[in-house]
Amino acid sequence: MITGIRGFLGSALARSFFQEGDTVCGTSSKGTGPASALPSEIKIARLALGDVVSSRIFEEIDYVIHCAHDFSPGAFEHNVEGTRRIFEAAKSSGVPLQAFVSSYSATPSSVTEYGRAKFELERFFEANAGVVLKPGLVLGSGGLGGRMLNTMRKSWIFPIPSGVRFPYVGLKDFVRTVRKIASTSQTGVHKIFYSDLTSFSEIAAAVKMDTGRPLFTIMVPVNTISFGLSAAECLLDRLRIRLPVRSDSFKSLEANQLTPGGANCGLLPTSHTTLQEVVSAAVRELDHAVFISS
Ligand SMILES: NC(=O)c1ccc[n+]([C@@H]2O[C@H](COP(=O)([O-])OP(=O)(O)OC[C@H]3O[C@@H](n4cnc5c(N)ncnc54)[C@H](OP(=O)(O)O)[C@@H]3O)[C@@H](O)[C@H]2O)c1
Repeated sequence: MITGIRGFLGSALARSFFQEGDTVCGTSSKGTGPASALPSEIKIARLALGDVVSSRIFEEIDYVIHCAHDFSPGAFEHNVEGTRRIFEAAKSSGVPLQAFVSSYSATPSSVTEYGRAKFELERFFEANAGVVLKPGLVLGSGGLGGRMLNTMRKSWIFPIPSGVRFPYVGLKDFVRTVRKIASTSQTGVHKIFYSDLTSFSEIAAAVKMDTGRPLFTIMVPVNTISFGLSAAECLLDRLRIRLPVRSDSFKSLEANQLTPGGANCGLLPTSHTTLQEVVSAAVRELDHAVFISS
């Protein structure tokens, strides 16, 4: 069972487990209707973070992967309590193993609500013999990475936050690694990103190479970008308009420069696909208009 199964990572995991012959189901706060990114055999139950959880939905479930995350500002408690509630209901229904999709930006010194919620839940899953998956930025046709690539491939000019490097992983390698972890029933924390870091300018160069279009980049200090986005959010949040990226993502990036990611996941291929290959694969998917957005 995959929570947040309609999302970018949830749907990619679901398709992959399904193709390998597993029986897959999932949850969504949006209800039980069909999802275009998923095979029709995959059943979806309605469940929002914070809802009362019926233990009936966990009958015959061997493994839960928690992908659901509410990215709205102020949703810290909602995410932490809501995820714990689903974990407890699944555990009391006899589900033997559960994995939580955290993030490389979850650290004891996380400055953002996102990083703090993820870190709090990591500790909870660790204390309860669960599995913690810590991906870097996942590059594919959805999520934050997909939104950035989608903008870059269509733009002539792109502001680049200067001086930040971050861990990343291609969607295929992320999915393959999660499947390996699930198949071996390993518990503990798994960092899922390549050993080399990347930057926005390297990604922009790879997009430029792939599309053959000109893409001019302007270096802007990362704190200027997060300040500008914060100011815009103050106004737009009131109007319920959501920007494609939030200031929190850049605050996290800035803070994470001081706490580098550490060892990569031993389950990733040692000589991984290059950044160019990862970016090109994502751009191809975006060309075919399969941006995954919940
Ligand atoms: N993409 C990345 O690069 C990346 C990197 C590191 C970690 N992560 C983590 O991976 C997980 C999946 O991320 P993603 O990129 O796949 O994002 P996503 O596409 O936005 O998926 C998140 C899912 O959470 C569900 N959700 C949102 N609010 C909810 C609520 N109130 N109750 C229940 N479900 C809710 C949404 O499903 P419904 O609207 O259908 O309910 C959505 O499908 C997240 O926890 C994210 O923090 C992602």
